[in-house]
Amino acid sequence: LTVRSTNVYSVEHTITRENRVVRNGHKGGVLWFTGLSGAGKSTLAMEVEKHLFQKGHQVYVLDGDNVRAGLNANLGFSPEERTENIRRVGEVAALFADAGFICITAFISPYQADRDRARGAANRIDSDAFHEIHVSADLNTCERRDPKGLYKKARAGEILDFTGVSAPYEAPATPELVVDTDAKDLASCVEQVVDYIDRTFRVE
Ligand code: PPS
Repeated sequence: LTVRSTNVYSVEHTITRENRVVRNGHKGGVLWFTGLSGAGKSTLAMEVEKHLFQKGHQVYVLDGDNVRAGLNANLGFSPEERTENIRRVGEVAALFADAGFICITAFISPYQADRDRARGAANRIDSDAFHEIHVSADLNTCERRDPKGLYKKARAGEILDFTGVSAPYEAPATPELVVDTDAKDLASCVEQVVDYIDRTFRVE
C-alpha cells in the first residue's frame, strides 16, 4: 500500500472505549470467519448475529457478497484485489470494534498474510480484539453443497480464479477457534461460537 494521505492529524475521541464497554456490557472486537465458498460462513455469521442481538449485544456482520456490492464494488478476485478487499474490510472491522461492536466478518480471505494484516488493524484498537475463526468444511462437502452453483461454473471454466478449484486457500495456521461444519449441524456450530464469545467478550 502506498500511503498518500500526508499532512493528516488524528483526532482524539472524548468518549473512551471503556465508556462504550460500560454501556454495552461487553467488549468490542472482531470475529474473523475464514473458509471456502460454501463452508457456511454467511449462514453461521447471520445466526450468531441473531443470537447476540437477542441478548442485547451490539453486533454487526460484514459479509463478502454484501460488501462487494458497495464499498468494494470495484474489486474482482485476482490475488491483488482479494488483498485489497481484505485490507479495507480489516480496517472497517477495526472501526466497528472501536465503536464497541462485536463485528463478525464473513469473507473467504484465502491468504494468511491478509488475515494477519486484518489482525494488526484490530489490535491497534485493543491487543486482544481479533479472533480468527476457521469455518471448516472439506472442499468435497462445499462442492456437494454448492448453494449458488459456483463450483459447477468454476469446473466448467465459466468462473476463473475460483477458490479451491483454480485459486488457493491457505487454511489458518493458528486460529483461535475451528468450527467444523462438516461434522456438526448449524445449531451446534452456533452454540460453539456463542460460547466462545461469552467467554472472550465478557467484561472482567
Ligand atoms: S475474498 O477471497 O475474501 O476476497 O472473497 P469474498 O469477498 O469473501 O467473496 C467471495 C464471494 O464471491 C463470490 N465469488 C467468488 N468466490 C471465490 N472465487 C471467485 N472467483 C468468486 N467469484 C465470485 C462467491 O459468491 C463468494 O461467496 P461465498 O459466500 O464465499 O460463497
